[in-house]
Amino acid sequence: MNFDRELENKLKETESIIKKYLPEEKGWAKTVMEAMNYSVNVGGKRLRPMLMAETYRLFGGADRVIEPFMAAIEMIHTYSLVHDDLPAMDNDEYRRGRQTTWVVYGDAMAILAGDGLLNYAFETALKSFGMPDSDADHKARALSILAEKAGIYGMIGGQTADIEAENIGDQVTQEHLLFIHEHKTAALIQAAMMTGAVLAGAGDEQIHLVEKAAYEIGIAFQIQDDILDVTSSLETLGKPVGSDAKNQKTTYVSLKGVEEASQEQREMSDHAIKLLKSLEDEGYQNVFLIELIQSLITRVK
Ligand code: IPE
Ligand code: IPE
Ligand code: MG
Ligand code: MG
Ligand code: MG
Repeated sequence: MNFDRELENKLKETESIIKKYLPEEKGWAKTVMEAMNYSVNVGGKRLRPMLMAETYRLFGGADRVIEPFMAAIEMIHTYSLVHDDLPAMDNDEYRRGRQTTWVVYGDAMAILAGDGLLNYAFETALKSFGMPDSDADHKARALSILAEKAGIYGMIGGQTADIEAENIGDQVTQEHLLFIHEHKTAALIQAAMMTGAVLAGAGDEQIHLVEKAAYEIGIAFQIQDDILDVTSSLETLGKPVGSDAKNQKTTYVSLKGVEEASQEQREMSDHAIKLLKSLEDEGYQNVFLIELIQSLITRVK
């Protein structure tokens, strides 16, 4: 099957799963629900839920228990973007081709919509316990991974280091930058893929391999994001270019230039693919997952 067509189908499926779990807009707190739904519904690549579902399939998962977790990771990711765009953080006015949540709803409502999405992510993932015929221990473990990778030992930790590293230019070493990228970006990619593996009943060694591969996929993904921030356009990206320079961020590009950054992201991605392909010896194969990861190397948005 043709990858682009398959991707389009999977994107549609993923969209409908996410939509199913969004809150109904009603009552006196309606505005926060509208702002949450606006932030999620404006689009995005839906990469994390797709990586989750495909890793689940890789290990033989074939149940609907994955669905609330897919919606949950996209809610957490979207909340991270809503807060990332706030004036107090990256101060950006466009996201996913539309005005950012704070521009449309104001700062206060954007903060609350972010909080709402984070909490609703766990309310949603917990709904999996109401689904019969799936292993409660797996669900509990998946929840614990999701919580840790999104928190101070994961994404929030990375965003903290990212903000504190602004304006200190050449004091940011490669090691420091890798800490930032690992936590702000790779952690949620790890959460996506690891929860997929856990829910499918993968063993500890396999989960560890997935964590390592997702680390590299995540770093490569952020390097490409940094590259696109200098080489792309608002029209293509759906978010402003030059955001990193504006905020005096050290990035892979500012540290090494586009060429070398590009080379490194390709190497990391290739290595991650090699790791995942090594599972074929044990009988685990998902061609679409490999193609999806490959497509990220040359992505333009
Ligand atoms: C943007 O993530 C934030 C980063 C971690 C680089 P995506 O590039 O996945 O954003 P959407 O979900 O497609 O909008
Ligand atoms: C943000 O990195 C990663 C998050 C956890 C939100 P960036 O600040 O580079 O993401 P974009 O470029 O605004 O999407
Ligand atoms: Mg940022
Ligand atoms: Mg940003
Ligand atoms: Mg960026």
